[in-house]
Parts: sequence; structure tokens; C-alpha cells
Amino acid sequence: MNTKICIVGTGYVGMATAIGLAELGCDVVGYDVLRDRIAGLRAGVTPYTESGLTEALHKHLAEYRIAFVDDFATAAAGARFVVLTVGTPASEDGSADLRGLDAAVEAILAAGLPKSTIVVVRSTVPVGTSDTVAKRLRGRHIVLYHPEFLREGSAVHDFMHPDRIVIGGNDHVAAIAYARLFENLGRPIVITGLREAELIKGWSNAFLALKISFANEVANFCQTASASADDVLRGVGYDQRIGSLFLNPGIGFGGPCFEKDVKSLRHVAGEYGAGRTLLSAILEVNERQPKVIATALEAELGSLAGRTIGIWGLAFKAGTSDVRDSLALRIIADLASRGAVLQAYDPGVHALPLQTPCTVVPSPLAAAEADALVILTDWPVFASIEPELYAGRLRQRLVVDGRNILDPERVAAAGLTYRGIGRATHADPISLASAG
Ligand code: UDX
Repeated sequence: MNTKICIVGTGYVGMATAIGLAELGCDVVGYDVLRDRIAGLRAGVTPYTESGLTEALHKHLAEYRIAFVDDFATAAAGARFVVLTVGTPASEDGSADLRGLDAAVEAILAAGLPKSTIVVVRSTVPVGTSDTVAKRLRGRHIVLYHPEFLREGSAVHDFMHPDRIVIGGNDHVAAIAYARLFENLGRPIVITGLREAELIKGWSNAFLALKISFANEVANFCQTASASADDVLRGVGYDQRIGSLFLNPGIGFGGPCFEKDVKSLRHVAGEYGAGRTLLSAILEVNERQPKVIATALEAELGSLAGRTIGIWGLAFKAGTSDVRDSLALRIIADLASRGAVLQAYDPGVHALPLQTPCTVVPSPLAAAEADALVILTDWPVFASIEPELYAGRLRQRLVVDGRNILDPERVAAAGLTYRGIGRATHADPISLASAG
């Protein structure tokens, strides 16, 4: 008989986990407090863009490998593992808001599941939370912690191709039983204590965020030192101890996870009185970084009052329609406060939260009917548009590339002024880039 798993929470982590476990041969039942979401999923409708998700959902629904139920006790009946993937958003003070997790624990207690049901926490949580969950379950259920390292947009792929699988638990037999579900992925499985697994997640995210803030500091330095950050970071990244991934400078890291997770870890570090300095520096660089856009625009145009700025990209990264904590929105607010008029195009975003001082237009060229053009999301399609197509529309002939995705020479050849992030603006006849 297949192992039955109940997944609590159908956000992108819950859905990628549900689909991934179905792929691995489990029988999966998804549950969410959002009844409309469950009704939609039952009909094969996914609430967000995620590569490969809809096709996989249809396949597993048709094969009865996956089901969705809006009553928790029914969803969890007969499950060997109940996996909690509820959201843990940031509170005002940066700490994690654990109310969703608390509600899930209450539901488990109310359902009176058999003691043999193992509870797996998969939400990103402060160290010690899984222990607290075990206590609140009054020792009735063994608790494991299984952190996720899934990127939004490619979460299903990431689930099936992890660098490692981390499972934390104080009960070795239960941890091994859960680990067996992932054996066929053929990837290293790291089994640790509960606290260690929680911390592997927190400090992994912090290191990735550190790499981005590092790249942004290098770029800001290179900008003033008239050097090419592309070349410097390429040379740095070739060192295998450093690595080139997550070393792309830009407007900073956005999205619903990184900033919240690093802030939550910093909050915990503050409580423990250790490790806070580095985390604060990572966040400080990231808070400052979006301002590079206004600085670049003002350096070329002077005051932005009354200027129309066209924007390409609203999502927090390419491949998603998600604008939660997108730095594009912070930059829009910043430019609007300086008097700019904003119009934006994004291939995945067709509406903005109410009160956002920006019009969404239906095409990239409509957005470029402006004084200057700013790129805020790394959609590859933007780099494929010939600069000649938008050069004539830009009244001040200025492009500020907040993601370094355009070819500066092609943009300049169209008669435009190009400003990137840490990209040398001086002529550089012996650029390392041209040496290949
Ligand atoms: C991240 C982590 O990668 C994932 O392991 C964790 O589980 C959840 O948070 P995600 O937020 O989906 O995933 O996106 P990611 O691809 O990591 O990008 C986050 C932000 O950093 C985006 O705004 C992206 O544009 C930015 N980024 C990323 C850079 O600015 N430079 C880089 O080199 C890489």
C-alpha cells in the first residue's frame, strides 16, 4: 500500500511538496482553510504561475494519486505523515508570525489522530518552534522538521532535484521512515536534531542573501571606482570556494521569503545575543540598494518632478507573477515621492495592489513612451527587444537597467544612454569581458 500523506497549506511550498510526493509514489491529500482554493484545486485550477505545476496536478488528479479536501479530520484520516506547509509571515517587529502553525496544531489535536501519525513541520520557523509544536501536541505525535529550499516559479523542479534533503527529528526511527520517501531522488539525506534542521534552513537563506548583498556592494564600489562589476564578480565567482551562483548585482533581493527569513533570523539572533551583526549588514545593504535607481535617474535627468518613467518588470523575479515584497513596488513608491509619473509593463503582472502610484500598460513599447526606461525584473524577453524599437520613444534617451540584462553596447548603438548596476560607463578598450 502507498504511504498516505496529508499536506496542510496549499501555497507554492505545499503544492510543490504535494506534487513531488505524488511523483514519488505517495497518496497525497491536500488541505487548506481557504475553501475556494480547495474547490479550484479539485477542478485542476492552480492559484499561481509555477512551472510544470498545472500539468502535474492534472496528471495526479486523473490517476487519483492526489486529492483535495476542505475538512481537516477527513484529509488527515489514515495519513502516516501530516506535513505542515502553512505560511509564517513577518510580524511588525521582524519576528515570524506563527498563528497559521498554531491553528494547524489545534486542528491536529481536535481531529484526535492516532498516535502513530507523525507530524512534519515544513514551514520556515525560528529555532525551537518544532520543539514547541511537539509540546503543544502533548507528546502525542512524533514531530520532524523538513526544511524546504524551493524557489518560487521552479518549486516542483527544485523538489525533484534537491542539492540535499534535510530531516530533523529527535526520534531516529521516525526520521529514517520519512527519509525513505525520498530515497529514489538519489540525493544526500542529512539527518539532524530538530533545532539543527531549523537552523540549516535559516542560515542557508542568510548565506544566499549574503551573496546577493555582497554582489551589490561590489557593484556599488565598482560604480564609483570606474570598474566593471560584471568582470570583477565573474573573476571572483570562478573560485570554486565562492561559486558564481547568486552573485548577480541588481536592485536587491525581493519576494516573500528572503527578507522575511533573514529578518526573522536576526530577531532570534538578537534574543540569543549572537550572530546579529552580519545579518543586519545583509539587510542594511538590501534596504539601501533599491535607491540606486533614483540615484541613476537623477544623475542623468536632474529632478524627476513631472518626468514620465517607463518600467519593465514588476514581479520580484522573472518567471513569476508574484509582487509580494517586490522591490519594484518600493522603487515605484520612491520615484513617485520624487514627483515622477510611472507606467509599467510586466509579462506576468496585469494589475497592482490598490494605491500603487503606477499605471499598468499592455506592452513593453507602451511603457517606453516615456522620458526614460527602467528595468526592474530580469525577464529574458526584455533583452530580446531590439533597442531601436524603443529608442525613438524615449524622450530623454535614457535606459537604467536595474538587472544588468541588456547588452550595453547594443543599447548605446541605438543612440541611448545606458546605466547598469556597477557597469562601467567609461570606454574600456581592454575589458576582460571582450577577452571571452
Ligand atoms: C528563495 C530561496 O532561493 C529558496 O531556497 C527559499 O526556500 C525561498 O527563498 P525565491 O524567493 O523564490 O527563493 O527566489 P530566488 O530565486 O532565491 O530570488 C530571490 C530574490 O533575489 C529575487 O528578487 C531575485 O531577483 C534576487 N536575486 C537572486 C538577485 O538579486 N541576485 C541573484 O544573484 C539571485
